[in-house]
Amino acid sequence: MLNAKFCVLLHLKRFQMKNFKRTTITAALPYANGPVHIGHLAGVYVPADIYARYLRLKGEEVILVGGSDEHGVPITLLARTEGVSPQDIVDRYHAIIKKSFEDFGISFDIYSRTTSKIQREIASDFFLKLYEKGEFIEKTSEQYYDEEAKQFLADRYITGTCPHCQSDGAYGDQCEKCGTSLSPLDLVNPKSAISGSVPVLRETKHWYLPLDKHEAWLRKWILEDHKEWKTNVYGQCKSWLDMGLQPRAVSRDLDWGIPLPIPEGEGKVLYVWFDAPIGYISNTKELLPDTWETWWKDPETKLVHFIGKDNIVFHCIVFPAMLKAEGSYILPENVPANEFLNLEGDKISTSRNWAVWLHEYLTDFSDKQDVLRYVLTANAPETKDNDFTWKDFQARNNNELVAIYGNFVNRTLVLTQKYFGGKVPEISELTDFDKETLAEISNLKSLISNQLDNFHFRDAQREAMNLARVGNKYLADTEPWKLAKTDMSRVATILNISLQLCANLSIAFEPFLPFSSRKLRGMLNMSEL
Ligand code: MF3
Ligand code: ZN
Repeated sequence: MLNAKFCVLLHLKRFQMKNFKRTTITAALPYANGPVHIGHLAGVYVPADIYARYLRLKGEEVILVGGSDEHGVPITLLARTEGVSPQDIVDRYHAIIKKSFEDFGISFDIYSRTTSKIQREIASDFFLKLYEKGEFIEKTSEQYYDEEAKQFLADRYITGTCPHCQSDGAYGDQCEKCGTSLSPLDLVNPKSAISGSVPVLRETKHWYLPLDKHEAWLRKWILEDHKEWKTNVYGQCKSWLDMGLQPRAVSRDLDWGIPLPIPEGEGKVLYVWFDAPIGYISNTKELLPDTWETWWKDPETKLVHFIGKDNIVFHCIVFPAMLKAEGSYILPENVPANEFLNLEGDKISTSRNWAVWLHEYLTDFSDKQDVLRYVLTANAPETKDNDFTWKDFQARNNNELVAIYGNFVNRTLVLTQKYFGGKVPEISELTDFDKETLAEISNLKSLISNQLDNFHFRDAQREAMNLARVGNKYLADTEPWKLAKTDMSRVATILNISLQLCANLSIAFEPFLPFSSRKLRGMLNMSEL
């Protein structure tokens, strides 16, 4: 009785879920100051791709939007170290990153860049609109200025002694020795990283988005209306909101970035975190010049951002505040951010070169994209930080992909070849076990969908593998190779059902292992999905 009531309630809840006509999926724009590694893939790009492929399989309208984030101070620092221009740096890494995503089957509908002309237009217009609507506040403050280089210094461009641990070489935003976050004014004996001279304080004016003014609606929108967000995301938002929001500068004194489109903004650029998320919008416009607004402004569009945990505040608080201030945009429906992936128990680090770089993986394991995709999803840092180890990689390849999926497909196809010359045999009569096995297929199908709808990619992939387990059990229990001498019509039925299982495997695994699915469809002579 209780159970029945509970079911009814669940149904009602489902029923109230909003129905959307189409989905705009974004994947965080990686900084174009280095190649991408397994942490990027596991946390952001594989989940975004799985979700996009899943919705496409269901025949839904969907776009997956990506691109490189090509502004910001670290890019200018790298350019300076290498003695090249920032544009050289981003040209180089944009090409490498774009190729890695293609190689791993990340099915972007567009992968563009924030140095594009269209981005400059859209981001400038966005700033202007907020400026004209009076959505910014202006503030003048004192910041370090390098009199030799004749420029203001970004936090990262100032080094000095850490006030906490007294070590030298701390940056204006953080001491990497003791991990404390700093402001440039905290540094003892500050020095300019550009000229080495002692910087002086000078007044400069900046434009701020007053997040404090947005706090009330953000609280309601997230804490009351989006209780279904992942607990790690919801929790981080709640702690930001509980600390109280502060105005955030959206401009910087820098010469690399999108120039502030107002006369007073001479020599200043848009802050990279104002610029980059607008990249999602301009990349959509580049893809769909005539209909892009449908994907960003129609309330029947569902907007979903795939990101890593260090991006949560920007996608759940800052960018929504920008969109709301502009006034004509929809807000994200969900932001399924992941935690971090470690490598062999140690934090992945570009500067310490502790990473598995995607382009290097492919030189060692060419054509093995799906193995990495599989392992990264099986170990996805969905609810907590997780660890990638080569031992686990080997075990999952041998014990799951080969021993379960590969083994089932191989046995089915070899037997079909042997007994029926590679033709699909016909069913004569179904036993109860056959019927149960067929029922399992549709049961697993709805389980997988349900997990994917809720962004539980690990569980969804596990259910897909269970389909192959069902197949192996079916073959082990029916033993068609023993029946071949006595009952060919039974063998025909068994192999027909096994082939149906294979076909369903190619569909179930399409979002996760697209290369293998395509191969399998080829072997089965199935049409495109
Ligand atoms: N480049 C940022 C990072 O790697 C992510 C930018 S996401 C966007 O952390 F919203 F700004 F595009
Ligand atoms: Zn320190």
